Amino acid sequence: MYKKLIKKAEQAKSKSYSPYSNFRVGAAIMTNKGNIYDGANIESASFSLTICAERTALFSAILNKEKKFTAIALTSDMNDFISPCGACRQVLYEHCGGDIDVLMTNKKLETKTVKLKELLPFSFGKDFKEK
Ligand code: THU
Repeated sequence: MYKKLIKKAEQAKSKSYSPYSNFRVGAAIMTNKGNIYDGANIESASFSLTICAERTALFSAILNKEKKFTAIALTSDMNDFISPCGACRQVLYEHCGGDIDVLMTNKKLETKTVKLKELLPFSFGKDFKEK
């Protein structure tokens, strides 16, 4: 179903700037209108300033005024399935909500699909306000 999205994420991996970790990650996020935005991890010599592929894809979409998202696909060079880090889970939750499909792939592009709310249960978000 998300074949095109996975392909875009796989291609995006080649845009990764990761000379410090040598760990390339590609991402592609799909909007409710079917538009796709890609992203890759971009590192810094000051390591903690690195930004993950998921967030570059999401922020690119937001800059293009997109507001609703249905799925995000991730790729890496690992045999294992690549799973979004905690920081990205939180940022995705902010902009996409818990129902977005997260497609985690391995090197062969086999895919595990889960909802973000499964990856970030009991989440804290913008709906939590003091009364
Ligand atoms: N990375 C991502 O881009 N996404 C993830 O979900 C996990 C980690 C990047 C950050 C860093 O450039 C490299 O992978 C190694 O941690």
